[in-house]
Amino acid sequence: MKKTLILQAPAKINIALWVKHKRPDGYHELASIMQTISLADTITLKEIGEPGIRIFCDNPDVPLDGTNLVHRAATVFLDRFSIEPRLAINIDKKIPVAAGLAGGSTDAAAVLTGLARLYDKAVTVPDIMNMATSIGSDVPFVVHGGLALAEGRGEILSFYEPPKPPLVVVIAVPTGVSVSTRWAYENYHSGNNQAKEKAFGEVLQAYRRRDIEALKALVFNDLESVTLHRHPEVLKIKELLNSTGEGVAMMSGSGPSVFALFTDRRRAMNAVKNLDGMAVNVFIEHITRKNT
Ligand code: C5P
Repeated sequence: MKKTLILQAPAKINIALWVKHKRPDGYHELASIMQTISLADTITLKEIGEPGIRIFCDNPDVPLDGTNLVHRAATVFLDRFSIEPRLAINIDKKIPVAAGLAGGSTDAAAVLTGLARLYDKAVTVPDIMNMATSIGSDVPFVVHGGLALAEGRGEILSFYEPPKPPLVVVIAVPTGVSVSTRWAYENYHSGNNQAKEKAFGEVLQAYRRRDIEALKALVFNDLESVTLHRHPEVLKIKELLNSTGEGVAMMSGSGPSVFALFTDRRRAMNAVKNLDGMAVNVFIEHITRKNT
């Protein structure tokens, strides 16, 4: 009998993102606090009769060919176990595309873990993390999910228990703006690493104790200097979400998504009201624990 598997693929936000320096291999050395949230795509894996990997998605911004990271993930996994590709992958897209929320990476991560289940393969953690790293820098984190300190190019991970009770997260994505991660990194010029090291060292503790006031002084995302300069509407959204003073707003990844953290839904809703009239898609979500 042909098998089908349905998986959730959560988005991520970067609570802090420190770009340390450019490496000889072209990537940048990072330190980032990463957190998964309840906003998620749904991936359906289905064995099919005919050979090949077929991708289905109703969002026209999502490529259906070999450039889609789910295609890369399926190819890497099936090659590794010498399985002939006869697979359909349906992506029910809820996470905005090219928005700094790891939407493509998390779909790929779900395909890797899903195929291990579909084909009943006992894959070790280092094995799946190696496959994930070969697909993209954010993929290893979203394979696991929850809260992590990510170092290296994003693949060296230390996991922590996320804050409890879960913080409420507002995601605001300006419509009509998409940012290439590669472009953002290429245009980044590093600043004073000493000051950043001190602030970064305190972010994780403040975050885990849900200390919004402390976070306001500590969080930073180095790629904001690139994306906010090019897209001033992203800065405007950040300022509007910060203006109630009850939460802390930041750009996620290379943008253009802005997220804001609140201790409860009432405070989140107060800030969302300030976005009235802006061309944004808004999601009210919460932080999540590791993937099941
Ligand atoms: O790893 P991934 O393919 O998702 O990265 C996309 C692009 O972002 C890379 O080609 C590189 O230009 C940039 N990048 C970087 N340093 C990182 C992660 C990504 O320069 N740590």
